[in-house]
Amino acid sequence: MVVVKVGIIGGSGLDDPNILENRQEKSVDTPYGKPSDVLITGSVKGIQCVLLARHGRKHTIGPSYINYQANIHALKSEGCTHIIVTTACGSLQEHIHPGDFVLLESFIDRTHKRTQTFYDGSPNAPPGICHIPMNEPFCAQTRKIVRETCKELGYSHHDNGVMITIEGPRFSTKAESKLWRLQGADVVNMSTVPEVVLANEAGLCYSSIALVTDYDCWKDSHEAVSVDLALKTFKANANKAINLLLHVIPKIASEDWTDILHKNEETAKNSVMGAH
Ligand code: ADE
Repeated sequence: MVVVKVGIIGGSGLDDPNILENRQEKSVDTPYGKPSDVLITGSVKGIQCVLLARHGRKHTIGPSYINYQANIHALKSEGCTHIIVTTACGSLQEHIHPGDFVLLESFIDRTHKRTQTFYDGSPNAPPGICHIPMNEPFCAQTRKIVRETCKELGYSHHDNGVMITIEGPRFSTKAESKLWRLQGADVVNMSTVPEVVLANEAGLCYSSIALVTDYDCWKDSHEAVSVDLALKTFKANANKAINLLLHVIPKIASEDWTDILHKNEETAKNSVMGAH
């Protein structure tokens, strides 16, 4: 049975190192440069984990400038088999309320200045071009565990969520927010793409728990999103997200991931053209 190691990428306000026991800071470098911050290694109920603050521990890196390649490369190099991330997001649907969790199944990409592949032609990149399939970008088995755990803990959640990732750092206009709704998205954020794409190229099981902080700005009867509002809702719900992770991680470790990880590795390998 493959030994599980869980990488945790914490979004704004959800990068609390206290969730790990036996913490140690580890400064690493990758062929793509440095990750957003030091890696914090440690364990949750005896399961090895690696925590990384997506925007840096002092929240100094904007969504367009995060080194997503380095972040995923660093977690893969540490031996992570899984990456579970949290992300703040705005709701685009009436029934998805601030404070709810949305478990992502797919995404719509509205970013335009981010490198989405490790095979980018840079001096240290592997040779070839990677056409990674995106029919199932989020690990369905991990999502099932998260869904069941939400149910057990009584946390309001929505499965099969579609995230639209915008470039930011500005929030959407009202016209854009209404367009995202028409396009079929459930929630909006600024970081799912390219993080999930790179995790797939790395053959990892990637799962995203999106925490709704606002109704973006399409809904006239509600306060439009602002940093203040997003942070306030986030702080009020951060404990729930941490508790969810603490329950999910041991359940992941109790399953046998051999076949799923093998399939992921094969898919990633077979997606590369022109390497020879
Ligand atoms: N993060 C939290 N709320 C958001 C919103 N409404 N749009 C984009 N990113 C967000």
